[in-house]
Amino acid sequence: IFYHIVQAPPDPIFGIANAYKADTSNTKIDLGVGAYRTDEEKPYVFEIIKKLEKEIVNDPTLNKEYLPIEGLADFNKGCQKLMFGQNSPLIASGQIVTAQCLGGTGALRVGFEFVKRHIPGDVYVSKPTWSNHNQVIERAGLNQFEYPYYEPKTKGFNCAGTIECLSQARMGSIVLLHVCAHNPTGVDPTEAEWLQIADVCKRRRLVPFFDCAYQGFASGCIEKDVYAVRKFAELGFQMIVAQSFSKNMGLYNERVGAVHIVTSNKDISARVLSNLKIVIRTICSNPPAIGARVAAKILTDEKYFNAWVEELKTVTGRIIKMRTLLKQELDNLKVPGNWDHITKQTGFFTFTGLTPEQCDLLTKQYHVYLLRSGRMSMAGITSKNVRYLAESIKAVVQN
Ligand code: LMR
Repeated sequence: IFYHIVQAPPDPIFGIANAYKADTSNTKIDLGVGAYRTDEEKPYVFEIIKKLEKEIVNDPTLNKEYLPIEGLADFNKGCQKLMFGQNSPLIASGQIVTAQCLGGTGALRVGFEFVKRHIPGDVYVSKPTWSNHNQVIERAGLNQFEYPYYEPKTKGFNCAGTIECLSQARMGSIVLLHVCAHNPTGVDPTEAEWLQIADVCKRRRLVPFFDCAYQGFASGCIEKDVYAVRKFAELGFQMIVAQSFSKNMGLYNERVGAVHIVTSNKDISARVLSNLKIVIRTICSNPPAIGARVAAKILTDEKYFNAWVEELKTVTGRIIKMRTLLKQELDNLKVPGNWDHITKQTGFFTFTGLTPEQCDLLTKQYHVYLLRSGRMSMAGITSKNVRYLAESIKAVVQN
């Protein structure tokens, strides 16, 4: 029965994580998967998460009954406020439909399944984008096209190219937009550029589908990082937003996320929710509780919220420091090329500009693991390995 099945390639991101684990070199560096590491190269569990998780697990009033299909109500309310603002009129008017999902990918999957069934259209994704976007959209059975997001010459955002491309998009198409800390490039539109994107979306009646996986990692301010979503909401867009807490709460394997669908009124919201529930029911029936209970406590209690924001600042601060350190080391070693983009780009990743061959060499000869696109997860850099990393980059650049 299964004879005809051919070997599939490893996932471009998780495959690298596995190769790193299998490497026995003691100089190896993991710059593959976007997961935070401490300066000791260790995974990090937020202190506030540990504390609240313990409380939840020991709470005798809680049980293991199924959650509603759309998830935990407090969590969903908290997610709406974090994304759209405490006083968002859209929340008050019941225009936002929210469902808890299995992390950011779960939210994307549910969102695109909903799109396929109820508002099918072409999907425009940034070139480049996170590799899983392409797979999720394809599996949902939707056609996808690319808009030229990244300009290799400037290592920045190609605003004119994006607008030009979207101006030709078929009316009613869906546009997948990274809210902040674009993955893989670390390049975000400015506020003025977001307005231009909003303008073309209005003109072509495009439906924005925002992916928000890195709130807090771009500007360091969680409010500022969701500027695009709030601005589009203010401009009256109906849209979809996928929200993840994998990175900003470090809840990677708990799969904590949400999908929001903004409609034009409360009655439509009720109808949308009833259909969204069918999508979720057929994918995972209903979501798991513990991670969402922890996140809900943080999102609905001011003192926990403030503790989380402080801790998040420490995490994002270390990544910013590593950007500066790597740039300094490369400059000190006089590595050919301009490395200013390392400190200009934001979030988890730097799009180094290294070629796939240079990346292969970095991995094979120097045990430095990164994506072949040249994407480097800055969270894998530490004050101890940064010098070796810079020397390795120098060696491959001069090869
Ligand atoms: C990444 O891009 O490395 C992360 O978002 C992890 C993942 O799921 O790919």
